[in-house]
Amino acid sequence: MSSLAVKNTRDTGNIKPVVLIVDDEYSVLRALARLISPQEFTAVWVPDEQQGLAALQDQAGRIRIIIIDLKSSGMGGGGFLQHARHLAPHAAVLITGPLGPFLYQGGNFYEFSGPNLKQDINGILLSIAQKMDNGLISRKKTGRKTERKDRFGAIIGRSESINAIYRLIDHLQGSSSTVLIQGESGTGKELIAQTIHQTSPRQHRSFVAINCGAIPANLMESELFGHERGAFTSAVTQRIGKFEIAAGGTLFLDEIGELDRDLQVKLLRVLQEKEFQRVGGNNTYKTDVRIIAATSQDLSQAVQNGHFRDDLFYRLNVIPVHAPPLRERRADIPLLLDHFFNNTAGEMGRCLPVLSEEALNALKNYRYPGNVRELANIVERLLTMCPEGKISVKDLPQEVREQAAVAPQTANVLNDLPDGGTCLSEVEKELILKTLELTSGNKAAAARMIGITRRRLYLRLSQYGLATA
Ligand SMILES: Nc1ncnc2c1ncn2[C@@H]1O[C@H](COP(=O)(O)OP(=O)(O)O)[C@@H](O)[C@H]1O
Ligand SMILES: [Mg+2]
Repeated sequence: MSSLAVKNTRDTGNIKPVVLIVDDEYSVLRALARLISPQEFTAVWVPDEQQGLAALQDQAGRIRIIIIDLKSSGMGGGGFLQHARHLAPHAAVLITGPLGPFLYQGGNFYEFSGPNLKQDINGILLSIAQKMDNGLISRKKTGRKTERKDRFGAIIGRSESINAIYRLIDHLQGSSSTVLIQGESGTGKELIAQTIHQTSPRQHRSFVAINCGAIPANLMESELFGHERGAFTSAVTQRIGKFEIAAGGTLFLDEIGELDRDLQVKLLRVLQEKEFQRVGGNNTYKTDVRIIAATSQDLSQAVQNGHFRDDLFYRLNVIPVHAPPLRERRADIPLLLDHFFNNTAGEMGRCLPVLSEEALNALKNYRYPGNVRELANIVERLLTMCPEGKISVKDLPQEVREQAAVAPQTANVLNDLPDGGTCLSEVEKELILKTLELTSGNKAAAARMIGITRRRLYLRLSQYGLATA
């Protein structure tokens, strides 16, 4: 076979997903193959569709993504796609060319928008792999259940949504792609960013965090890029900025949505050109910094109403991560309570307190608008306030007690009731999803909890298009 493994020919110990590139134009996609990170993928380039299919026959199981320019001659795009679907049903095909780019998987086409292929091919491949893992691009069921984990590094949780984040962090190892983490305050965005850094090749260099909302706009430029002596009235000495401090490491730009418009332009330019100048200086410095940004605002909304530049948004949103609110992953609450009671009691040199059953239930059912941060604070407060080592409902914070008093089993669904109301089937759907989350996907247990037969649960799941949930 005349396919050419572009990189990685010596590195055979670790089985990496193969990216197959099919193109007869030697210069274009073959150049792309050279940009693919050998730490994450093995890139294989073939000059025509026949050889592409031969490669699929040889190693269909390992080929995860196929990139093809369908204007290329041969058997015509449709023919190739049909054969490819048969030979490698799990692979996603990224189609470039005059109509593209779009994705083809399992017989369906998906629109695909993102940065230019050559600009960030590794980010694009990772985001496709991520979407496949999250089921956003449907994958044929293999019948094999993926194991759920209880923790990843310092991140605790066993819900499906937190496990999707573990898998993403796993995929990102070896990469320096830009990441944008969106989620409410206290959902663990900074913890996720630190974990991504610690599992990256940059782990031995600094992780530097800066909160764009906490620093006045006029000082922010100097915070980021530093200044020369005399650059402005209070600049009595030269000072280096976060970009220099984080050299070789990761810069965490928290609350990026708060960044001033002028600085959005400057930041975009630095990210594109990979160089910057200190305020009041003429020298240009090269940067080698991995950017992870986070926001608790809805950034695409901010783009729509003109508060955030769309070009900067796209430049940052290469690998999107959504940190879900704790109330949407209730399966994590008991684990987190356990973790923080143990840890905090240990740190305080205290024995573990005994919780009454009602107190524990109230803590498990509470809505945690402040997410994990609030949960950790409540635990710390309880340990401080209850020196006799027993905790009952009366010791709980007022908001937890109040919510426990309102029927806890329906509070979650109805607290989110939109202004325009909702229909019963929506409530049922949400109830089923949340219950499955509680039972870690065990359908029999979920049906029992809801009080319906298993048959009815399966029926509803297929009616609501959740058959694989
Ligand atoms: N899944 C988790 N497991 C363990 N601790 C967590 C988790 N999520 C958040 N925390 C802890 O909760 C607090 C708030 O998290 P943080 O990452 O600062 O949230 P955010 O940046 O989204 O506001 C931190 O002390 C963090 O360590
Ligand atoms: Mg934070």
